[in-house]
Amino acid sequence: MSEAIRSFVAVSISEGARRQIADLLGGHRHGAGSAVRWVRPELMHLTLAFLGEVSQEFLESAKSQLSEVARRHGAFAVQLKGLGAFPSPSRARVVWIGTEQGKGEVCSLQEDVVKALSSVGYQPERRPFSPHLTIGRLRMPDDVGKVVAAQFESESFVIDRVVLFRSVLGPAGPVYTALAEFPLAVQTA
Ligand code: 2AM
Repeated sequence: MSEAIRSFVAVSISEGARRQIADLLGGHRHGAGSAVRWVRPELMHLTLAFLGEVSQEFLESAKSQLSEVARRHGAFAVQLKGLGAFPSPSRARVVWIGTEQGKGEVCSLQEDVVKALSSVGYQPERRPFSPHLTIGRLRMPDDVGKVVAAQFESESFVIDRVVLFRSVLGPAGPVYTALAEFPLAVQTA
């Protein structure tokens, strides 16, 4: 059997939004956010589906499904806004930034991605999808009420592709590599 490849499907955020988030996190390194392991801004993305360890054969089927999905959706604008925590700010494991503009389009794209991948064997998560950009994780649940009270609003930017990423876990954190990109291009003809 071929090597298992840890992978996920996501949409990327703009460089401007990354810089804005980096500025926001700069203020949280100490004090209120000290229990949080912050994600490096260059690694941040909006995950649509986590595939886990999959075979090269599965990835080939996934790629053809994703290119079909991308043909059914157009590019759209997104604005990231507001902070929150899973499962709750008082016992947080994950700190995230939500979406404001573009939330409906992200959900519809995610639904289509999951449906298409399920047709080739992907097992969808049971919990409902809630679009979020993970910006921090906690080893032990902790209160991040002060962190999520911050106001945040990114620039508005365009999402024009879906990306299939490989994730390699290492001691210095994960390394994500784009395996394939699928431009969002509704075919009207
Ligand atoms: P999230 O933390 O933003 O929800 C790559 O690991 C991406 O896949 C992460 O950004 C993570 O999204 C998502 N993911 C979802 N379920 C996962 C899991 N069980 N293990 C690792 N990553 C997962």
